[in-house]
Amino acid sequence: MKKSILYLLIFLTGVSVKGQEDLISNTQGRETVSLNGTWHYIVDPYETGFYDYRFRERRETDGGAYWNKFVKKKKTDWTEHGYQAPYNIKVPGDWNSQDRQFVYYEGTVWYQRNFDKPEMSSDEDVYLYFGAVNYEAHVYLNGKKLGMHKGGFTPFNFKVPGELLKDKDNFLVVRVNNERHPEEIPTVNTDWWNYGGITRDVKLVMVPKQFIQQYHVQLNQDQDIIKAQRSKKYGIKGWVKLNEAVTDAEVSMEIPELKVKKRYKVTGDSLRFEFDVKRISLWSTNNPKLYDVSLKLNGSSVTDKIGFRKIEVDGKKILLNGKQIFLRGISIHEEIPQEARRANSKKDAAQLYSWVKELDANMVRLAHYPHNEYMPRMADSLGILVWTEIPVYWTIDFGNREVLKKAQKQLREMISRDRNRASVIIWSVGNETPVSETRTKFMSTLVKETKKSDPTRLVSAALEVGYNKGRNYVDDPLGEYTDIVSLNEYLGWYGGLPDACKTAQWETKYNKPFFISETGAGAKGGFHDEKEMRFSEEYQKWYYEEQVAMFKERFPDNFSGVSPWILVDFRSPRRNNPDYQEGWNRKGLIDNKGNKKLAFYVLQQYYKELKEKAGH
Ligand code: GCU
Repeated sequence: MKKSILYLLIFLTGVSVKGQEDLISNTQGRETVSLNGTWHYIVDPYETGFYDYRFRERRETDGGAYWNKFVKKKKTDWTEHGYQAPYNIKVPGDWNSQDRQFVYYEGTVWYQRNFDKPEMSSDEDVYLYFGAVNYEAHVYLNGKKLGMHKGGFTPFNFKVPGELLKDKDNFLVVRVNNERHPEEIPTVNTDWWNYGGITRDVKLVMVPKQFIQQYHVQLNQDQDIIKAQRSKKYGIKGWVKLNEAVTDAEVSMEIPELKVKKRYKVTGDSLRFEFDVKRISLWSTNNPKLYDVSLKLNGSSVTDKIGFRKIEVDGKKILLNGKQIFLRGISIHEEIPQEARRANSKKDAAQLYSWVKELDANMVRLAHYPHNEYMPRMADSLGILVWTEIPVYWTIDFGNREVLKKAQKQLREMISRDRNRASVIIWSVGNETPVSETRTKFMSTLVKETKKSDPTRLVSAALEVGYNKGRNYVDDPLGEYTDIVSLNEYLGWYGGLPDACKTAQWETKYNKPFFISETGAGAKGGFHDEKEMRFSEEYQKWYYEEQVAMFKERFPDNFSGVSPWILVDFRSPRRNNPDYQEGWNRKGLIDNKGNKKLAFYVLQQYYKELKEKAGH
């Protein structure tokens, strides 16, 4: 929108069309009102709600605009849009799984609901918070635009101008468009379903005029944990960021179980702190200890549950709290297979993690985008380590500066939301991006920015592998920048048969931990045949047996973990074998009805042995 029109709009409406505010982190620890539930919708493939018949953007007061409410006053009144039953849709929820008309739909759907002004004091503000909307969201309240957001898997919020909020029946409209574009993140080509919609929780967040917007509280990662344990002196450090600058205010921090009660004078919009504690129960996979932490600014508080731990790389090893750990991982898409829908709730997270625990895994790779917030939060409570990533996937437009900015924004939103989750040990900046100078510059920029923004975790990406006559080597230049060398290999599925693993040689040019971020084979659940039969459960079992043997006998000594592809079958428009796939990627160890395949037990046995050997 041209600046002149924007200023005119501000002048005319008195409501600023704001870009997106900085994210309010940890809404679960704040005063909120849920806007989940039944909304109404209009399917709008021709964008009629946004453009007039000459395809000009509609003026804000245009009665035909779908963000405006129409009230029929007399018989002759005329409108051609409206929100009412039976055009109902559940929020949170992708639209694809809610009605057969939406299964493959890519376009615009308008969402609408009313809400009343929440209980709040006069010195409070209200923000509208969205857990995620895939892919582009334009948010309107009572006919005024609050803002727009792009990115299908990260949260965002808009401040509601006080003068806009009515006591009753506030008319909230969200235009959602999930069309794919070459210059977006991800781009047009992915191996997952393009679920559209308001796919995660929506809530009103009530905060004082000045409040704690974001914060980070963690062990000082520069300290030697073993020494800290011996000397009973653990350093804790972090920062607090306010929504605006204050003069002479007070921020207090309490961690009751550690008898921590700190008060800090703050002038400006941020504060850094550092202090020692004598004892602490370190968070780990077999001791997922979380502490209640409360942060207050002038009496208004935000509460969190935080685990204190250190993750680091020491040469070829990954250390958790100073001890080497092998990542017994499994990759997961954000999907509930039995209902072919996006996962979006605590109950969904519990289902996925129950399978992870049955596998005896201690780590999940949340592919290929940040999952809903219940996933890292539940991983904190269960003691499961997390690799989470932004969907810089395959053939992104690496030479486009605007695309880099989009990736950086999604990275910031991912880190802002989950920086206080002990379970998150790896930020990944992408997956299987084709090697080129432009791509490595793009990706290394993301790696450096991630390290700067959060030095308390490892940074990775699924790198490219070179194959040459049985010799598998990793010399992807991006490996210079990442903390661990991760790669996806499908030796025995996309390359040769599973017995190719018997002679495979592996080399990495990097003296860093070596992690297999994907390996897997397809099988239709319940289809049995000889092991040579592709898509039989026996073939997949053979594949895992050969892979496990290779891990045990022929992998380099910096082998530090694996997250096989994938826990459960998932929807993909790229998978169209009419006998075995029918729109599903069948590499799950569990099929889309929730039944375990033979290969599940091969991996489970391998992880049980590793767990017994490691003692945790
Ligand atoms: C790739 C990719 C996955 C994909 C998998 C497959 O490694 O990272 O997203 O689903 O291969 O081919 O099944």
